[in-house]
Amino acid sequence: MKKEINWEELAFNYIKTDKRYISVWKDGQWDEGKLVEDNFLTISEASTALHYGQQCFEGLKAYRTKDGKIQLFRPDQNAKRMQKSCKKILMPEMPVEKFIDACEQVVRANEHYVPPYGTGATLYLRPFMIGTGSTVGVKPAPEYTFCVFCLPVGAYFKGGLGPVNFMTTEYDRAAPMGTGAAKVGGNYAASLHPHQEAVEAGYADCIYLDAATHTKIEEVGAANFFGITKDDIFVTPVSPSILPSITKYSLLYLAENYLGLKSEERDVHIDHLDEFKEAGACGTAAVITPIGAIMHKGKKHVFHSESEVGPVTKKLYDTLVGIQFGDVEAPEGWIHYVENV
Ligand code: PLP
Ligand code: COI
Repeated sequence: MKKEINWEELAFNYIKTDKRYISVWKDGQWDEGKLVEDNFLTISEASTALHYGQQCFEGLKAYRTKDGKIQLFRPDQNAKRMQKSCKKILMPEMPVEKFIDACEQVVRANEHYVPPYGTGATLYLRPFMIGTGSTVGVKPAPEYTFCVFCLPVGAYFKGGLGPVNFMTTEYDRAAPMGTGAAKVGGNYAASLHPHQEAVEAGYADCIYLDAATHTKIEEVGAANFFGITKDDIFVTPVSPSILPSITKYSLLYLAENYLGLKSEERDVHIDHLDEFKEAGACGTAAVITPIGAIMHKGKKHVFHSESEVGPVTKKLYDTLVGIQFGDVEAPEGWIHYVENV
């Protein structure tokens, strides 16, 4: 059962909630799926997820609105991206409706963990799929398990809407023809060491450059990059090894249609940072985190300010978060109400 939670103090740490969803794929089909209390999985020691990284995951949030309803933000996009991740590493796809239904069941079963409106906290949902069964050769698993668990969270990067600093890394997260665009665990394994180096050097995380030339920005830790040019263009990098962030595509739309900015998906050269007056990291966990400064090859580039969010970033944040919490009218199809709560 729920312990007392100080919603305002939440960071991004595991909390065991009451129920999680589990469904097993065997003999070519998914079973009906069910909610369980046990937060441990029992799987074969020879599961492909354990040895060969055959697994993928998603991240999305449930938001409590002012009138007490609970809503999901674009869960169909997460479901579709998970299907792409599955295809990439030869796992069976989870149907979009079943994915969304699983998320809804988990939210309903843990309703009292959905933070109250106004605290800034949300319920983070973590769907994932793993290859199970016993296979020791390097080949796809005979069985798969799909789960969704949830936990209440606050800010991912310390500071919330306060800017944080990043440094570039010489390590690569993903190769141009590799798995960077899929949300698979291997990409995150590759990021652990560079992440730790950045944190030890006093930065929030590291910025990955393109693996082929190390001249263009790809990702900001576990978030996408955006910059606002001096003439108010919303710019975000394009690359086959970036995770297609749902937040990023939402911001591209909002920048054009709600803020009246032009937007561009194009190369962002690390040596041309002075084209931007503001910059940020965006993602489900990161929401919008303003980038104060980037340290690259011993040179520090400061954007708007190291202590204050820039005005365009603030407007983007207010619009996005306003939609997610139901205070700003959403584009059609972006909000999915969780019924019967
Ligand atoms: N890039 C990486 C590597 C991520 O892990 C995430 C998080 O999901 C993102 C970007 C942001 O994607 P989204 O906005 O869909 O959460
Ligand atoms: C998310 O934003 O949902 C992510 O997956 C980031 C996570 C790896 C912490």
